Amino acid sequence: MEFISYEAEGNVGVITITREKALNALNSQVLDELNETLDSVDLDTVRCLILTGAGEKSFVAGADIGEMSTLTKAEGEAFGKKGNDVFRKLETFPIPVIAAINGFALGGGCEISMSCDIRICSENAVFGQPEVGLGITPGFGGTQRLARIVGVGKAKEMIYGARNIKAEEAYRIGLVNNVYPIGELMPAAKKLASTIAANAPIAVRACKKAINEGLDAAMDDAIVIEEKLFGSCFETEDQKAGMGNFLEKDKEKKLKVVPFKNM
Ligand code: CAA
Repeated sequence: MEFISYEAEGNVGVITITREKALNALNSQVLDELNETLDSVDLDTVRCLILTGAGEKSFVAGADIGEMSTLTKAEGEAFGKKGNDVFRKLETFPIPVIAAINGFALGGGCEISMSCDIRICSENAVFGQPEVGLGITPGFGGTQRLARIVGVGKAKEMIYGARNIKAEEAYRIGLVNNVYPIGELMPAAKKLASTIAANAPIAVRACKKAINEGLDAAMDDAIVIEEKLFGSCFETEDQKAGMGNFLEKDKEKKLKVVPFKNM
């Protein structure tokens, strides 16, 4: 792969977009490689993914403007679908994905971070959907996910005004969960990923599915989604071990492996 590197350390996988010369902008090749990388993750071992960008300046500076500049209407729509398909794969990936946002997260960069379960960023991060300044709409889910995450009014202000925001504002409006000095970002992402990976994997996956699918449903249907996933955890090794450890009153074990202790 030319633009994606992937490393698994124990139960945590780290995907890095490595197109630093173009501030990790997403061209078709990057999207194809990201898609292939997701397909290759060993889900028997890896329990949490981290997505980041190479370097200390940019996470992802958007979709590739050079590549988009000559597209026809049909090609533009197809490019939008290509990005959306990969981002949706990320959003519905069976295990949690943490975006470690190390700088610019503009256009497709903000959009890919919003396809992840949790966003944390460095102090130099900048977020925005600058597309209207380029004569297009956000094309990889920005009009949909930004409104869902930060609310309709704030999303419209940012998108219509092509207004970029700094890390502190992103934290204030709930776009990111935490802000770190750049050198502390990856250690924090790995610590969070390890915490998630230490919990019962079947239960964590079921929680992701319940939250994601429930958000798209009416409450009466959403609670049924939860009931079914809650039920699916019973009789599993995770549930037997998790509850067994608690009932055994084995303090050592309890502190180490009770599935829900950190959630
Ligand atoms: N596409 C292609 N190349 C890009 C890029 C992008 N989105 N963003 C940066 N680059 C390239 C630059 O062309 C430049 O390449 P050269 O060295 O070959 O000239 C290199 O990365 C470094 O960029 P700058 O010299 O511009 O760096 P800077 O520090 O002066 O500015 C920046 C940084 C503010 C992020 C600026 O690069 C910028 O505004 N980039 C574009 C951001 C943007 O508009 N993103 C949205 C794209 S549209 C989109 O994403 C649509 C969608 O929803 C799918």
